[in-house]
Amino acid sequence: MRRKLEKFVDLLPEIRLLKPYKKTKYGAHYEMTMKQFRKKVHRDLPPTTLWGYNGQFPGPMIEANRDEPVHVTWLNQLPSKHLLPVDVSIHGLDQLPAVRTVVHLHGIETKPESDGHPEAWYTNNFRETGPTFSRKTFTYPNHQRGSLLWYHDHAMGITRLNVYAGLAGMYILRDKQEEALNLPMGDYEIPLMITDRSFNDDGSLFYPSQPDDAAANLPNPSILPAFNGDKILVNGKIWPYLEVEPRKYRFRILNASNTRSYRLRLDSNTLFQQIGSDGGLLRSTVEMEEINFQPAERIDVIIDFSKAAGQSIILKNDLGANANPDDETGEIMQFRVTKPLKNKDSSHLPSALSVIPSLKQNDVSGIRYLKLVGSSDEFDRPLLLLSNKHWHDPVTENPRLGSTEIWGFTNTTNFSHPIHIHLVQFQVLEHQPFDLDQYNIDGKIIFTGPPQSPAANNRGWKDTIEAPAANITRVIAKFAPYSGEFVWHCHILEHEDYDMMRPYMVVDEDEYDEK
Ligand code: C2O
Ligand code: CU
Ligand code: CU
Repeated sequence: MRRKLEKFVDLLPEIRLLKPYKKTKYGAHYEMTMKQFRKKVHRDLPPTTLWGYNGQFPGPMIEANRDEPVHVTWLNQLPSKHLLPVDVSIHGLDQLPAVRTVVHLHGIETKPESDGHPEAWYTNNFRETGPTFSRKTFTYPNHQRGSLLWYHDHAMGITRLNVYAGLAGMYILRDKQEEALNLPMGDYEIPLMITDRSFNDDGSLFYPSQPDDAAANLPNPSILPAFNGDKILVNGKIWPYLEVEPRKYRFRILNASNTRSYRLRLDSNTLFQQIGSDGGLLRSTVEMEEINFQPAERIDVIIDFSKAAGQSIILKNDLGANANPDDETGEIMQFRVTKPLKNKDSSHLPSALSVIPSLKQNDVSGIRYLKLVGSSDEFDRPLLLLSNKHWHDPVTENPRLGSTEIWGFTNTTNFSHPIHIHLVQFQVLEHQPFDLDQYNIDGKIIFTGPPQSPAANNRGWKDTIEAPAANITRVIAKFAPYSGEFVWHCHILEHEDYDMMRPYMVVDEDEYDEK
């Protein structure tokens, strides 16, 4: 139906670092403007109209140091009409005077007022209640471990369209402990943002106007709003290539796709040495043949090309292709080991990386079981709910500030959901399978096996985890250091927009007493 495009003809774009416009004793100050722009995403495709932070896709990268706060003023200068077909019937999108935006820095610990709450959106100049500001300044304290974070749009009901249009970028937080390790750096540390998109032949973005069309792309169209693009982009180019030297490289990889998850693999029997996950370095390096990579997850991997001089190695996606011969998403990008070695590779890959205390040692105040359920709205359109609650229902999860809780995500659908909790980095305890057929008959959870430990690369700090179908996925988190209202949700953006998101409240009891 849509144009076929030759693979590996465009060079992988470098992600640009943004410089602060000023530095004070209170931290570094940045400004980013969301605007519409045009960009060529493939040699043989006319330029695509996109939305991007500072007119770039991916947005520019911010590099921050631990304990040095960053302040970003996020300006909305987008057109009032959306680039993509808006399905107006939910969340009052038909009331929209102009496009809503609000930015969330995914993985950061910050106060609610800087977290990009979905209802804290603003437009280019107007809101129903009257004129308002087209900008917000958020503060990121950076009192946390070094890791790869990312910023993206989070506006209520329209996140999937805003992010699909290009509103996403990366943010690297550095710390001393990591710097002391002598990992590959400089030209040898490369951020990769993986996304999928579909394009019309004139180069414009394709996105279905109704969730039902979108669902037609999926194995089980009847229950899920979702959308998988048919082209894979890395750093904003379709199926790019990168020339590398025969040595070790460190790749900081983000899955910024709306719905698509990947199973990453390298051909020619090359392995990943995974050193980090969402919340920074793992305890020790794990060798991975394949990496399950859900939306919003980040991985930090070393790939050693030293024995591959002259070869080309393809980064593959084992979840692509298979069933449909026209599906070209089984490949992501190509590494060509064609550059001469500039200097001897003096970087080092230690096996012990960092210390991660187990949260199980804390006093656990309680367990919350939270069901992931399929449902539908009054027009019979598919919705997904958390604990049978809609977004607008009152808060039901209200951990005390500083307390440690276990949350058990009970997935009663037949599809995986990457669950993300704002504010915290958590630890994954286990996945425990139950009988879904039995559940569908009488609502009872009958376990079909013992709890299983998470995969070796998911035993560090995480903020997003795959909750597989017919499993309870238990995670443990300490709800600190800020109180107030945050959100948790499925990070498949089509699910999030169709109600798979809930507010939660971190309650500071001292504050209560004073009132
Ligand atoms: Cu990456 Cu609430 O989002
Ligand atoms: Cu987040
Ligand atoms: Cu989901």
